[in-house]
Amino acid sequence: MPSYAYFQKKFMPLADARMNVMTNCIHYGTAIFEGIRGNWNPEKKQMYIFRIREHYERLLSGCKVLLIDIPYTVDDLCRITVELAQKCGFEEDVYIRPLAYKSTEQLGVRLHNLDADFLCFIIPWGRYLDVETAKCGVSSWRRSDDNAIPPQIKVAGIYVNNAFAKTEAVKNGFDEAIMLTPDGHVSEGSGENIFLVEDGKLVTPACYSSILSGITRATVIELAKNELGIETEERIVDRGELYTCQECFLTGTAAHLTPISEIDHRKVGNGGIGPITAKLQNAFFNAIKGNNPKYMKWCTPVYNKGM
Ligand SMILES: Cc1ncc(COP(=O)(O)O)c(C=O)c1O
Repeated sequence: MPSYAYFQKKFMPLADARMNVMTNCIHYGTAIFEGIRGNWNPEKKQMYIFRIREHYERLLSGCKVLLIDIPYTVDDLCRITVELAQKCGFEEDVYIRPLAYKSTEQLGVRLHNLDADFLCFIIPWGRYLDVETAKCGVSSWRRSDDNAIPPQIKVAGIYVNNAFAKTEAVKNGFDEAIMLTPDGHVSEGSGENIFLVEDGKLVTPACYSSILSGITRATVIELAKNELGIETEERIVDRGELYTCQECFLTGTAAHLTPISEIDHRKVGNGGIGPITAKLQNAFFNAIKGNNPKYMKWCTPVYNKGM
């Protein structure tokens, strides 16, 4: 099924959305991106875009840091994305990739005196970590310091750091990397936040632990509290806790909620999916698929049915 893009202020077939080789962002990673999920609900024959506003709020705050000025509000970006999804007409889970980028066709390492533009495209995409449970390895690559590149914004260029970690992990036989902060505490996966279960409580690295403040992370914290009555401690997490916790899992828009079975060749719990992780996974999938009326506030329907 052909897909569409929104590029240079127009909708067009994805195959026609092409960028000039001199475009500044290609050379220096001067772009802010987002990853948003459209989740197909086969019973309701509806696609729900999950927490679209929060994704665009994060995109625009990243734009502020990178001095990217695009003439769109959060409402505009939501409208463009829903229209694009309608044009695409997919009836399966999709991944939406918006990008706000330095668009001037000119070389030069800087953020000032460059034009900016916004593009977006949609592709069908199932599981990102294509395993039931992930085997992880602690990376030798540290997460970026806030005074190098702030990790709480999704700057394209910072993802070279994540790519180093991911490739090292995969080449060492793991599914995903766990990165540490510059001072050696647990930070996050290469594209996911991390949670541990310790003595029936959830623990996750705090915002000051060089993490991207994930929208899935916030969702899981809320679901744990509302649905399971479990509080989350956001704090410094030591590497040793990875080996002694009872359960552990990754969260992210692409990776959903993926249980971790092993870290550095040590089993997490009994190496299966722990009971709290299983309950949270269930609550999470119900929420994102638009199957829990309590969380429809997070789900934007794409298709106008019978209206
Ligand atoms: C480095 C990193 N951490 C965490 C996440 C999870 O964030 P979210 O749940 O908002 O997708 C992502 C994915 O966007 C990421 O790239």
